Amino acid sequence: MAVLPIYVAPHPVLKKPAAPVAAVTDDIRALIKDMFETMYATRGIGLAAPQVGQSLRILVMDVEQTGDRAEDHEAPPVPGKPIAVINPEIVWTSDELNTYEEGCLSIPGQYAEVERPEKVRVKYLDENGQAQEMEADGLLATCVQHEIDHLDGVLFVDHLSTLKRDMLLRKLKKWARENADDIKESYILP
Ligand code: NI
Repeated sequence: MAVLPIYVAPHPVLKKPAAPVAAVTDDIRALIKDMFETMYATRGIGLAAPQVGQSLRILVMDVEQTGDRAEDHEAPPVPGKPIAVINPEIVWTSDELNTYEEGCLSIPGQYAEVERPEKVRVKYLDENGQAQEMEADGLLATCVQHEIDHLDGVLFVDHLSTLKRDMLLRKLKKWARENADDIKESYILP
């Protein structure tokens, strides 16, 4: 098990559509374990494989974790309902929309409101290769759509106006420049 470095926007691996997983092997399960460990270590509620440099259609989520999620505290989050999702396909979305303030481990420190369908139904394979279907609403619906976007090379800033997106990406660049020495163990900069 290992905490993996996070690829930061606009790294090309984040813009590339990820490949479907051909077979759910022990190697895939090992990657999923590392992704969970990385997600909890970085206080994220979701993580997609391209964010750790693997261009594969895999994501992990846990929107029900508890404990102190602030980065400057030592106590690790307590897993709530970890879900591993392989080769997801959105099969239904509600007409009703919902707005959440979103962030992203690949766009550290930047947040913006994004509007998405309030509910979605998603077909996927679990870590045992079994077909599953989930109906998600609330934060889970936003999270799964945000993570599936990652598999298609789309970031939450791509849902914003060009002006807003450019502003956030400029702030991100400044953050990366100013912190390059401190963050080189944890992040892969573009
Ligand atoms: Ni993200």
